[in-house]
Amino acid sequence: MTDKPFLYVVVCAAGVAADVSKLITAAQERDWEVGVFASPTAMNGFFDAAAVETQTGRPIRSAWRRPGDPRPFPAPDAVVVAPATFNTVNKWAAGIADTLAVGTLCEAAGRGVPIAVLPCVAEALAAHPAYQDSVARLRGMGVRFADPYAGEAQVGGERREFGWELALDLLHSP
Ligand SMILES: Cc1cc2nc3c(=O)[nH]c(=O)nc-3n(C[C@H](O)[C@H](O)[C@H](O)COP(=O)(O)O)c2cc1C
Repeated sequence: MTDKPFLYVVVCAAGVAADVSKLITAAQERDWEVGVFASPTAMNGFFDAAAVETQTGRPIRSAWRRPGDPRPFPAPDAVVVAPATFNTVNKWAAGIADTLAVGTLCEAAGRGVPIAVLPCVAEALAAHPAYQDSVARLRGMGVRFADPYAGEAQVGGERREFGWELALDLLHSP
């Protein structure tokens, strides 16, 4: 047990998830205790799950617990979704809690804790009206979004840096 505030990090199935350890390190340096949720697809090779479990000292939560089992994590003091996919943002906004990750997000908004999102969505998908509506709806619920990030390589083959630490800054923004 610890007195540190507890941060939920929700990881979705985008390519940049491979670097999620950077976010965990930054959060721990800012004195957060971290517990990771991952979508079932994200668990399918998008990041090094064993390394994340070692880093956080806790199992990753991806499946619903069995009835009667205790909640493995304490309630969150804040939530970060990084990377956030097109799929998860749309399901979250629509209230479709068909994975533990999205169910946790749906519940978090009702808890009134700060929630920060680092989207990683290709421009062609971000142009879909459902996505635009989802982002607007979630913003209206108080969810804080970082600027769009498309995840695609820029001209010359370089990918813009994914601003992991920005998620932690957003938690404290007004
Ligand atoms: C290698 C790879 C990279 C992907 N990158 C992205 C991405 O950056 N953003 C996104 O929205 N979907 C991306 N996808 C598609 C998602 O994985 C897919 O929509 C999935 O259903 C998302 O599930 P989740 O939202 O439950 O994590 C990628 C898929 C693959 C195979």
